[in-house]
Amino acid sequence: MFETSIDADGIAVIKWNIPDRPVNVMNETTMAGFRDEVEKAIADDAVKGVVIASAKDDFIAGADIDGFLEDLSVEALLPQFLMFDKIGRAMETCGKPFVAAINGHALGGGYETALCCHYRIAADNPKARIGLPEIGLGVLPGGGGTQRIPRMLGLQAGLKMLLDGRKHTVAQAAKMGLVDEVVSPEDLLDVAKRWALDHPDATQPWDRKGFRIPGGDVQSPTGMQLFPAANAMGRERSFGNYPAVQAILSCVYEGCQRHIDVGLRVESKYLVNMIRHPVTKAMVRTGFFEMAKARKLKGRPEGIPKAKIGKLGILGAGMMGAGIASVSAGRGIDCVLMDVDRAAAEAGKARAAAPLEKRVKQGRMGEAHMAALLDRIAPTDHYAALDGSDLVIEAVFEDRAIKAEVTKAAEARLASDAVFASNTSTLPITGLARTSARPANFIGIHFFSPVEKMPLVEIIRGAGTGDAAVALALDYVQAIGKTPIVVNDGRGFFTSRVFATYVMEGVALLKEGVAPALIENAGRIAGFPVGPLEVVDNTSLGLSLAIRRQWKKDLGDAYVGHPADDVFELFVETLDRPGRKAGRGFYDWPADGPKRLWPELGRHFPRAAGQPDVEDVKQRLLHIQSVEALRCREEGVVTERADADVGSILGWGFPMYTGGVLSWVGQVGAAAFEAQCHALADRHGPRFAPPAEVEALAA
Ligand code: COA
Repeated sequence: MFETSIDADGIAVIKWNIPDRPVNVMNETTMAGFRDEVEKAIADDAVKGVVIASAKDDFIAGADIDGFLEDLSVEALLPQFLMFDKIGRAMETCGKPFVAAINGHALGGGYETALCCHYRIAADNPKARIGLPEIGLGVLPGGGGTQRIPRMLGLQAGLKMLLDGRKHTVAQAAKMGLVDEVVSPEDLLDVAKRWALDHPDATQPWDRKGFRIPGGDVQSPTGMQLFPAANAMGRERSFGNYPAVQAILSCVYEGCQRHIDVGLRVESKYLVNMIRHPVTKAMVRTGFFEMAKARKLKGRPEGIPKAKIGKLGILGAGMMGAGIASVSAGRGIDCVLMDVDRAAAEAGKARAAAPLEKRVKQGRMGEAHMAALLDRIAPTDHYAALDGSDLVIEAVFEDRAIKAEVTKAAEARLASDAVFASNTSTLPITGLARTSARPANFIGIHFFSPVEKMPLVEIIRGAGTGDAAVALALDYVQAIGKTPIVVNDGRGFFTSRVFATYVMEGVALLKEGVAPALIENAGRIAGFPVGPLEVVDNTSLGLSLAIRRQWKKDLGDAYVGHPADDVFELFVETLDRPGRKAGRGFYDWPADGPKRLWPELGRHFPRAAGQPDVEDVKQRLLHIQSVEALRCREEGVVTERADADVGSILGWGFPMYTGGVLSWVGQVGAAAFEAQCHALADRHGPRFAPPAEVEALAA
């Protein structure tokens, strides 16, 4: 587990090398092992100084996140954390110099181990990331980070680092003062040993007499100004949904007023509560494990060789087609970008170039690199250019006749094993595949707009789609660096269908006479990036109306109306307020100023006498989506909870603290969720009625 050696000068090197794990992680066993090594080195008179290093590519990747999902008691957890505090303090105060030789990732507890050292040297490794990312998992840096960082950087810079949870490159870390020196990887150990030899009396600043926190203590005028503002900003960002934000602020405020030994105990107690918190469990499960599994294609059909997409055909050079070309060329795939005439195809290529040009301007990409990528996009207006494509994605108008025509023409040029995909967001894949000569190779690859920014891709298996097509689509999504989920066919598939319920519920609330600002704020307080009415304005009310009408036409008598339907009609057809593009929808969008809710809304939807509590509106907006997701699970549109959870967070910004749209049911508690939905159904209609077996479906 540890390789310890002592050289002729008396410098001990303790190298982390946890067996059978891809990275060095800290858990009860490895921390006990580390404690033993440190205690041995401290007790050994022959040892003059100690270097903490790693025999793996990373330094230490932090706490063993696997353990976060276990249900451990306070009694089991607290002693572990106090033990780590004790080791850290022993390193700092034993009278021997400790140096961290950081060769790779030093994250969370890994970087906190380095913080217990008197000096931190990092190898100039472009892959290495350094920082305290705990907040992203719903916890706080509990290995002394909330105490040592503010004492090292000052309260303001320290709080910023703890609350933003960024992983920094070595160069950034050096600039911020997180590492003291950067050297070449070959020199790392020698320089670390030399420093230890040259600094026999090293101490930590906070153990020196008269230590003050740089920039001012908690009770200084700076501190007094900082904390009220930091509290307010924390609240503004989290709306109280992420308890770790408050816990970090409390650790710094309470702990940094006291001696560091007391501060560390304060931190450990907050950490125990955070690790046991349901929000942490949800964030770790979905945000760390399920997302990683999705990126690693855990659901890929077995026994099919990995596909390499050498050439990609894209039909339709509009916004989506151009976006797909841009991200694909950016990952080294040759793209043919086709449209009805050469000018349209060229315009599409120019659109694909825009995000790359932005990166060049920001200094994040060289001109030559951009030119090489753009060379990979060939605009065209004839199908023959598709010859030799491994995959063709159509991103033409949402019109069945046009789609049928391009499918036929493109398929005529494709090899028998090439795959044809539709980027439709509304039309069921099985129906579109009827026009295909090879339905087993026909699939849905649903991108989100803007393609360059959105991390999710929804892969839709039609009734006749074969495993080989699913595997190829997954390989392609992985190759372009996005995260896939796989769902079965259905109206609106999974993401559009469930997200629509958020928007529709917002409009239903408006129709009931709930104050528009209350609806929008409740959406944001629930954790969504924007309120439901703003979402409709952004995507256009005309589109919502068209989709609803298409569904009505397709479903006939089976169509279930929604209170929002006639609001869409009113706004598009009577009031001529089709949305943001036109400058008017539920909001006014003036060209020269900020948006504001349309002042006339109250005239069309008179304010109801008793306004609901914001918590009730929030619950309605969250629950309606989870009910729809449960229905998707019941109907087999999604077969894995993880696909629903990952898809909801990455696809439309369902809030992370919930763990995703199905995990939310678990967080509320299946029985409580069911009861709340039945109560909502009694008041607002059967759309809230949950399917039977809520617990089994959410599990
Ligand atoms: N605890 C448990 N397992 C961890 C881990 C941790 N802290 N960090 C990484 N792993 C595991 C991953 O789950 C993965 O396991 P798998 O191969 O079985 O799928 C493996 O180590 C490699 O990680 P991966 O993310 O695939 O490699 P990478 O090189 O892309 O990234 C890290 C490496 C360390 C940057 C990344 O894994 C990471 O950010 N880990 C979390 C660090 C963190 O948040 N630490 C603070 C904990 S409070």
